[in-house]
Amino acid sequence: MSVIKIRDKQFKVSIPEAEIKTRIKALAAQISKDMEGKNPLFLGVLNGSFIFAADLMREMTIPCEVSFVKLASYQGTISTGKVQEVIGLNEDLTGRTVIIVEDIVDTGRTMKQMMESLGTRRPASLHICTLFVKPSKLEEPIDIDYAAFSIPDDFILGYGLDYDQAGRYLKDVYTIVESKENSMKNIVIFGAPGSGKGTQSDKMIEKYGLNHISTGDVLRSEIKKGTELGMTAKGFIDNGQLIPDDLMVSILASVYDSFGREHKGVIFDGFPRTIPQAEALKQMLNERGDSVAAMIELDVPEDELMKRLILRGQQSGRADDNEETIKKRLVVYHSQTQPLIEWYKKEGVHYHIDGLGELDRIFADICAVIDSI
Ligand code: AP5
Ligand code: MG
Repeated sequence: MSVIKIRDKQFKVSIPEAEIKTRIKALAAQISKDMEGKNPLFLGVLNGSFIFAADLMREMTIPCEVSFVKLASYQGTISTGKVQEVIGLNEDLTGRTVIIVEDIVDTGRTMKQMMESLGTRRPASLHICTLFVKPSKLEEPIDIDYAAFSIPDDFILGYGLDYDQAGRYLKDVYTIVESKENSMKNIVIFGAPGSGKGTQSDKMIEKYGLNHISTGDVLRSEIKKGTELGMTAKGFIDNGQLIPDDLMVSILASVYDSFGREHKGVIFDGFPRTIPQAEALKQMLNERGDSVAAMIELDVPEDELMKRLILRGQQSGRADDNEETIKKRLVVYHSQTQPLIEWYKKEGVHYHIDGLGELDRIFADICAVIDSI
């Protein structure tokens, strides 16, 4: 899931292009069936409906025509309030089957006025076809013959819809992301060995005051102390293998609980690494009324990972940073850990970040995600 900034606001995809296309195809099939032999005239309402009208028209299977109108607002009498006038209509509507094509219907007031205005031009019939309708906002009892999507009362843009004229070009439809100040932000920082999880975690801790669990650090400290867990872990780590899930999961809850209930959130670095670990984490957080707000994937090409780790091995002497073990760690990553990307996509919290390049640019991308959740 990617977050984008349009003017001063953040947006995330809510309806992907493919889904929009599928719905429009179905709508066009229905209209083609209902309007057979009537040569309907589509009347697109500019600017918002121009993409929808174009796509709808191209999915029609019966002869039809298209034209566009604009609405001009002016102040009417006290009783009529603001009035929307239809301008730019050159066609004679007498006896025609007319379908108004709108991007979004919310209160229905504009549509009602349009129906009244066009009704005076004696069409054979008048219909409404809208890409979106917000049922919870409808104030006027209008008949909407065709609606591709019923949506909640959120601000949306893309696919012709704008935010202050911006964003109409976007292929998908986006919803505004309200930032939830002060709520707990549990974040999984994810990536292959050497992708920068630890490096970026330090910056996140400093900026956001988050707590941090690095299972690798926990294990290395246990090894140093010579504990039983450390002794068990050493064999696996030195061989580039993962520590068994049950052992990892058992230490997780106690570290998480050690932060208390009032924390701002925890960065999980190097955990989960397998699907059973992701399921265990979900359950552990669920039991506490918490959840993972974002899984941030740092995507770095393999040759760069190798370069970084070999360099670190020379500088810090980390036992598993030698070419042979790094290769094994990468194999384990691909086979056991990478499937988590799809797992978190299904959870709806996956965010992809290009992890190659300047530290500060990568961090800025991470901040954009954190600020949006
Ligand atoms: P762990 O300690 O988690 O290691 P890892 O996943 O292999 O990742 P690294 O810590 O090596 O890399 P990183 O992504 O943190 O990158 P870093 O910021 O350091 O785990 C070690 C072992 O413990 C595992 O192999 C396993 O055996 C065991 N284990 C741990 N968790 C487990 C679990 N949940 N289940 C089972 N077993 C588990 O950066 C790397 C280097 O690159 C640094 O030198 C850094 O300075 C540099 N660098 C960072 N960003 C950039 C950049 N943008 N450009 C250039 N250089 C950069
Ligand atoms: Mg690390």
